[in-house]
Amino acid sequence: MTKFIVPKEIFHGLGTLENLKEVKGSKAVIVIGGNSVKNNGVLEKAQNFLAEANIKSAVFAGVEADPSIETVLKGAEFFTQEQPDIVIGLGGCSAIDAAKAMWVFYEYPESTLEELAAPFAVKTMRNKAIFVAIPSTSGTGTEITGLSVITDRKKGTKYPIVSHELTPDVAIIDGELCASMPKHVTANTGLDALSHGVEAYVSNIADRYNDALAKGSIDLVFKNLITAVEEPNNLESRQAMHDASCMAGMAFTNVWLGIVHSMSHQIGGTFGVPHGCGNAILMPNVIRFNAKVTDKYEDLAALSGKSTAEEFAQDVSELRATTGVAGSLKEYGIDEKEWNAKLDTLTENALKDPCTLFNPRKPTFDEIKAIYQACYDGTAISF
Ligand SMILES: NC(=O)c1ccc[n+]([C@@H]2O[C@H](COP(=O)([O-])OP(=O)(O)OC[C@H]3O[C@@H](n4cnc5c(N)ncnc54)[C@H](O)[C@@H]3O)[C@@H](O)[C@H]2O)c1
Ligand SMILES: [Zn+2]
Repeated sequence: MTKFIVPKEIFHGLGTLENLKEVKGSKAVIVIGGNSVKNNGVLEKAQNFLAEANIKSAVFAGVEADPSIETVLKGAEFFTQEQPDIVIGLGGCSAIDAAKAMWVFYEYPESTLEELAAPFAVKTMRNKAIFVAIPSTSGTGTEITGLSVITDRKKGTKYPIVSHELTPDVAIIDGELCASMPKHVTANTGLDALSHGVEAYVSNIADRYNDALAKGSIDLVFKNLITAVEEPNNLESRQAMHDASCMAGMAFTNVWLGIVHSMSHQIGGTFGVPHGCGNAILMPNVIRFNAKVTDKYEDLAALSGKSTAEEFAQDVSELRATTGVAGSLKEYGIDEKEWNAKLDTLTENALKDPCTLFNPRKPTFDEIKAIYQACYDGTAISF
């Protein structure tokens, strides 16, 4: 049996923020990051739509990028004080992921982050509130996924909380919210969405349902990312990228990801390489590596009228370069001495990362290490 899980309601299209009026409840807490949703007027609009539906709202502001457990616990305390029956994560994935974790601690105050990070440890949710996700970046797909990534800065560890209980009840995919995204955030997050589509498409548990969504999302990214980066106010491209991110999220929350993510998680945690940028640097060589055991990249090459996995790898490199993202880890700025000192640890941790389990080709330590080194140098692998 294979199950396909996504939110119950997904509103998508320009102006769909207004559909907040259809959410059922009486009191909402809206969790936001910095000031972007205040400055672009989105927070005020959201609160006005809720007020029209007789839903009171309170705001928890100040979630930082890569949200910490301290912020999550502060937010949960705020929830306890406000007693919402609707939790709304509004903003980048950091704000939405923090809101998901605050929601868990609101429902189960006795939880600990370590416990929750065990696979499927989250108990039955929705005893106190439902969850609405409204993303303002087009990348991670958190509005769809049963995943929240929280950082314990004291331990220097990122904890993924994974459970379909965390899949939002309502997702609102309104491209208007993305117009204010800076160019580099648009590029990095858009390339992250591309990597979700590509990794889900070749996952070793891929199926027809997810293939259709993954392939559709990849096609949208190739047709729209450059315009979204170059013309921030082009709302059609913004909506297309928002849809792409959401569709790729639907695919990967059901069939998972591969070693682009296993390897990217390590360079993100160790060297601070932005997630989408790391993925874009790693993707062409991982495509070459996996292409030895799957012919599915040929379908993806066909989206742009080509036929081989190598041509698809080159299409990915070209899109990365055109959107202004570094071509190698050396070019990104990782110091060579530090790289050499940490390469074995990165490799060991990438092998242990849960995403490695779903990669179509099972890698060895030496193979991961050689892929890392080629991506550091900016060369192509041939094994
Ligand atoms: N839950 C998941 O499924 C999942 C998957 C992959 C990664 N992650 C996590 O997601 C986080 C990264 O999320 P992200 O890439 O969305 O970035 P982010 O939420 O950290 O936002 C990046 C920056 O862009 C700003 N920003 C966001 N939207 C904006 C807008 N419309 N206009 C202007 N500025 C805006 C934010 O304030 C922030 O400074 C990481 O913590 C990563 O570990 C989660
Ligand atoms: Zn990703």
